[in-house]
Amino acid sequence: MIRWSLPLTLALGGALLGAQCQSKPVTPPSATGGAGGAAPMPGGAAPVPACGALVTLAKAARVRPARAPGPQRVVGGQPSLPGAWPAAVALETPDGWQFCGGTLVGPRCVLTAAHCDVRPGELAVVGREDLRVPGGRVPVTEVRTHELYGGAEGGHDVALAVLATPVDLAPMQLVDASWAAPGVLATVVGWGLTSEGGQGSPVLREAQIPVLADSVCRAAFPEFTPTMMCAGWAAGGVDTCQGDSGGGLFVRVDGQWQQAGVTSWGWGCARPDTPGYYSRVAALRAWIEACSAGCA
Ligand code: ARG
Repeated sequence: MIRWSLPLTLALGGALLGAQCQSKPVTPPSATGGAGGAAPMPGGAAPVPACGALVTLAKAARVRPARAPGPQRVVGGQPSLPGAWPAAVALETPDGWQFCGGTLVGPRCVLTAAHCDVRPGELAVVGREDLRVPGGRVPVTEVRTHELYGGAEGGHDVALAVLATPVDLAPMQLVDASWAAPGVLATVVGWGLTSEGGQGSPVLREAQIPVLADSVCRAAFPEFTPTMMCAGWAAGGVDTCQGDSGGGLFVRVDGQWQQAGVTSWGWGCARPDTPGYYSRVAALRAWIEACSAGCA
């Protein structure tokens, strides 16, 4: 299966959380030189590493899987009802390849996974359960990646894609920073593979999986970090899968859906005793909020 272990070293030691959020400089992959990312900008302006300066390297390093030699996208779920998840967004390349998901968290702001390596010019598909329906494509103009991201298995696997134009759909609320709810049944959504090594779905799918205790997540993955959470059934059979990354894990809080996780990685899909790992929104909320200035 695909484990996104990009051996990126973090160039930015400093904790930039909550620091002024600047855009990732748009540099061609060939210009990314090293993870320091201190290459001068064309106009001579120094790149300010705040909402993610180094991850252009990840883009270059990442090979987009030829539609999943791993398990399927949402596995074991069912098609979502029309209009059920207005904030769910598909991310496509200009030639129409759906490679990741995301969630609208502001009119021009899509929360996704850093490892998706979204680039300006790629498209957010909004207001569509069925990706075969034309329209609803809004270009991404800018991507802000978490400064501490260095590969999904290291945590901090979040990015914000800024859209060219605002979208008139209800954005998803985020769980509070204090949220933790092992045992809660969460809903994951996406257009990803429907079985390990299988095919993507043109129609949005969803599935229910329990959020697991950190101790369980750590037992399966000792390098588990506080910016991760994990979810899944011990028996397997239900999971997110390739192509679902970046999409949301949603929970109901006080009768309202909120986003608690961002689909990040796993070993294969839907295997028994093999949870899926998600970026923990509660732990990353401050960054998400600070970095959504101007697009939220
Ligand atoms: N990394 C995958 C992607 O890019 C998501 C994998 C989630 N896997 C899992 N077994 N839950 O789409």
